[in-house]
Amino acid sequence: MKLRAIAMFVLAIGISSAAQAAGEIIIKFSHVVAPDTPKGQAAERFKQVAEKLTKGKVKVEVYPNSQLYKDREEIEALQSGAVQMLAPSLSKFGPMGAPEFQLFDLPYLFPNQETLHRVMDGDVGKKLFAKLDTKGVTGLTFWDNGFKQMSSNKPMHAAADLKGLKMRIQSSKVLNAQMKALGANPQVMAFSEVYTALQQGVVDGTENPVSNFYTQKMHEVQKHMTISNHGYLGYAVIVNKNFWDGLPADVRTSLTQAMKEATAFERDVAQKDNDDALAQVIAAKSTTVYTLTAAERADWQKVLLPIQKDFESVIGADLILSANATAAQVAKEQADAASKPAASKPAASKPAAPAKK
Ligand code: LMR
Repeated sequence: MKLRAIAMFVLAIGISSAAQAAGEIIIKFSHVVAPDTPKGQAAERFKQVAEKLTKGKVKVEVYPNSQLYKDREEIEALQSGAVQMLAPSLSKFGPMGAPEFQLFDLPYLFPNQETLHRVMDGDVGKKLFAKLDTKGVTGLTFWDNGFKQMSSNKPMHAAADLKGLKMRIQSSKVLNAQMKALGANPQVMAFSEVYTALQQGVVDGTENPVSNFYTQKMHEVQKHMTISNHGYLGYAVIVNKNFWDGLPADVRTSLTQAMKEATAFERDVAQKDNDDALAQVIAAKSTTVYTLTAAERADWQKVLLPIQKDFESVIGADLILSANATAAQVAKEQADAASKPAASKPAASKPAAPAKK
């Protein structure tokens, strides 16, 4: 741990001991991104609502920006009970022994957020959370970030433009296969180390939703970004199982309600945060932003879609099938809604959300 992390850790222990002495239940919520990201804001929203609903019985301490732990360490800290709550990205569950979560890493599987939410909130999400029970972890809910974009120091239009680039990835076998399919050289690295690695040329590029890219100032050290929407980055909010099961029932009910409110808030702001971050990156002018044409996108898909088949035995063919079926159902509903004459639509209904890609 670096000096700053040690200081934060000591401070955290100090605050927690004082609160514990006052009879409060402490939830340490550790995460790796900036406070002004979708996850960072939702963690704060959860804190506010949880403390209000439990009338001071629970105190939530949020530690952003890897102040306490980096990616892999934070999962170990949750399992050992050093922290109680996290929201790791779905790409980080493989090393915990739950490779099925890599479903969400499959390139070009999810065409829009509506499909993602139905998959997360339905049977697939339940099956994934059931896998965590034996790991001392309870899954509470899924949060969004958004669709990922590629960045590096050279323009990336054709899929072949990534050939030979060293690309930072999260610890996911699917993301490793994705970069290899593109001819790039994937390097697993903790999120907190990415900016320096880009600055020093340890890696040439990375992938992330724009909110993460901008809030880590990666635009200062990346000359090009391609709006590829080639994959998705979201989160599972998880708690230490013994801690959660040991809470008084009324406290657990209030915290469940607080998490429901934080989730609604999070899903509401995520897309806007990414849109705003993109506007900021463009305004900063240090990164040239390019959007793939339909033909270029088809080229990327041709290279990346076969990964779905390659990972059937790791993730489960049933989960991939279910995600594809949900995407088809959502597309059908959106097409039906769009083809209905305006007069036959209920007055209060909103137009169907446009497909993301
Ligand atoms: C990353 O490591 O790129 C992301 O998982 C960071 C995050 O938590 O959004």
